Amino acid sequence: SMPSFVNIVEVGPRDGLQNEKSIVPTSVKIELIYKLVATGLPVVEATSFVSPKWVPQLADAKDVMDAIRSVQGVRFPVLTPNLKGFEAAIAAGAKEIAIFASASESFSKANINCSIKESLARYSDVALAAKKLAIPIRGYVSCVVGCPIEGAVPPSKVAYVAKELYDMGCSEISLGDTIGIGTPGTVVPMLEAVMAVAPTDKLAVHFHDTYGQSLSNILISLQMGISSVDSSIAGLGGCPYAKGASGNVATEDVVYMLNGLSIKSNVDLGRLLAAGDFICKHLGRKSGSKAAVALSRI
Ligand code: HMG
Ligand code: MG
Repeated sequence: SMPSFVNIVEVGPRDGLQNEKSIVPTSVKIELIYKLVATGLPVVEATSFVSPKWVPQLADAKDVMDAIRSVQGVRFPVLTPNLKGFEAAIAAGAKEIAIFASASESFSKANINCSIKESLARYSDVALAAKKLAIPIRGYVSCVVGCPIEGAVPPSKVAYVAKELYDMGCSEISLGDTIGIGTPGTVVPMLEAVMAVAPTDKLAVHFHDTYGQSLSNILISLQMGISSVDSSIAGLGGCPYAKGASGNVATEDVVYMLNGLSIKSNVDLGRLLAAGDFICKHLGRKSGSKAAVALSRI
């Protein structure tokens, strides 16, 4: 049965802007976050405390956090790849963090320069430090159906990493189809494997739309009881270390579908369109959201 409410986790300011060729000015990032907050979104992933050599696009993480630290009523998780990132995030006022592991060995190496096992050891240190400060942790698993280097990824590998993150105390595990290759045909067995090791209400789905399968994959996930969905304003996104990966599913398209299903999200579609318009104008690009393009013509 379908959930009556879906928690949307907006990842545009992080997953979207980490992948832009040009570096977006800090002031534009901050205005985008304010506009996203005004839509009613409950969670906006704000930035990453990663190495600026690896992701120069988000090197202004501290300044972004400074500008939003007094905003109430919205959660602003930030990515932390290690203790150094965790400490910087906390110093900048972060109240929630996300750690990100991979179900594929090659992608782990390409994205965070270590094996899956090494990453889990690092993350368990981060989780321990977070627990001491009562900071909630979101855990990502990347490459949940396919890897840009290794190809198909078996559900058992995803379930293994998801369980490790769950056992570390993650309050939510987000399952990422990093390269957007999945269909309901591969997503269903992956979710079944993960649901066997972690409670469904602790799971979220994170689809990139490279092959145009995101909404189908989200619908099937909702039918399986998932009620937390990651998406990105205007469909921005991609991972600099996953060649060929395109944007995340667009938040506008998700909200349009949820509205059609009478599933609540508390997100105002009109205000989302304004936020999408703002960032697309800045980037000089057409929106990646089909709903936004269609609605802007009416
Ligand atoms: P490394 O080079 O192995 O790190 O990178 P290191 O520990 O050897 O340190 C090297 C240098 O980086 C040192 O500086 C450190 O101080 C510095 P130096 O002495 O050379 O001047 N450093 C840092 N600086 C700032 N913040 C830090 C930090 N850590 C080390 N936290 C590392 C390892 C993990 C740091 C690097 O590989 C990295 O930052 N990777 C991040 C990659 C990334 O952000 N990818 C995109 C996000 S994941 C994603 O998009 C997928 C997702 O959306 C889900 C999905 O779609 O599937 C989440
Ligand atoms: Mg992603």
